[in-house]
Amino acid sequence: MEKFKEILTELESKLNNVNSLNELVEIRNEYLSKKGIVSSLMSKMKELTVEEKKTYGKEVNELKTSVEKLISEKQIKVNEIEQEKRFKEEKIDISLPPISHHVGKENPFYKIIDEIEEIFIGMGYKVEKGPEVDKDHFVFELLNIPKDHPARDMQDTLYIDNETLLRSHTSAVQAHVMQKEGGKPIKIICPGKTYRRDDDDMTHSHQFAQVEGLVIDKNINLGNLKATLELFAKKMFSKDSKIRFRSSYFPFTEPSVEVDVSCFNCHGKGCNICKNSGWIEILGAGMVHPNVLKMNGYNPEVYSGFAFGIGIERVAMLRYGIDDIRRFYQNDIRFIDEFNKKVED
Ligand code: PHE
Repeated sequence: MEKFKEILTELESKLNNVNSLNELVEIRNEYLSKKGIVSSLMSKMKELTVEEKKTYGKEVNELKTSVEKLISEKQIKVNEIEQEKRFKEEKIDISLPPISHHVGKENPFYKIIDEIEEIFIGMGYKVEKGPEVDKDHFVFELLNIPKDHPARDMQDTLYIDNETLLRSHTSAVQAHVMQKEGGKPIKIICPGKTYRRDDDDMTHSHQFAQVEGLVIDKNINLGNLKATLELFAKKMFSKDSKIRFRSSYFPFTEPSVEVDVSCFNCHGKGCNICKNSGWIEILGAGMVHPNVLKMNGYNPEVYSGFAFGIGIERVAMLRYGIDDIRRFYQNDIRFIDEFNKKVED
């Protein structure tokens, strides 16, 4: 029986050094498993007399209860120690600076497209899409620009094959929409990319974008075109903007005009934005040529229409005071951020 006391004192001192669950499990196995110390002491019963069994049995059971008690008490302590350890490991240092993520923002190029769309949607226009890779037939032929026409020189582009090319203007969409609508009235705009042989410099790029506009109905006249573009200029640039028409030439419009907007910076006095003329050229337009109406299934005796093509980058450059067209395509985050400040503040 003295031995039992020793066993308990030894267990106590062992438990004093235990700091982790693993260590405790080992000790429990050593004492309480099937082949452990307590079991082997119990199995000694069968060697004893009935009389001896009585006292030995009692003592050994008490030993078992004490061992279990000591171990489960220690278990509570070890759980606390382990929890403490975990808390320390998982502790978050709230004084650390945050990891900053740069949130992508909208390129001013797309902001202008949105604004232009808003303005025309407000006037009842529908926004159409057209293919960037298109057929000669739609880009030139159906717009009154046959194969040998000199106007093709100004719109040389990249060819996929003899008949397939990257569109040199969004005017191709005019033909697509007229063919699709099959003689019904039309009131659409179509923003999109265009490609043209050009010098790449501060104001020119071989890839740029336009918004095409096309209105076809009965009794459409040049006055409607002027009123429409004047409203556009007022909404896009300034309330007191004026526009002026200068006669021009496009094979698919007759008459054709270049459209200038009064300089929103100097209001006509002359400055570096308008090159001292008081006017800034922003687009080409005109009345849809009767040949174009005919070729695309509209009777020019009944229907008339106007069309215009706005250079998107040009409008964005004027509007935001951007000096180099290439900035739109470089995706320099610092440049893009400049145009999103208001949203952030
Ligand atoms: N497509 C012409 C261009 O690219 C612009 C334009 C469109 C002119 C519609 C008249 C009518 O220059």
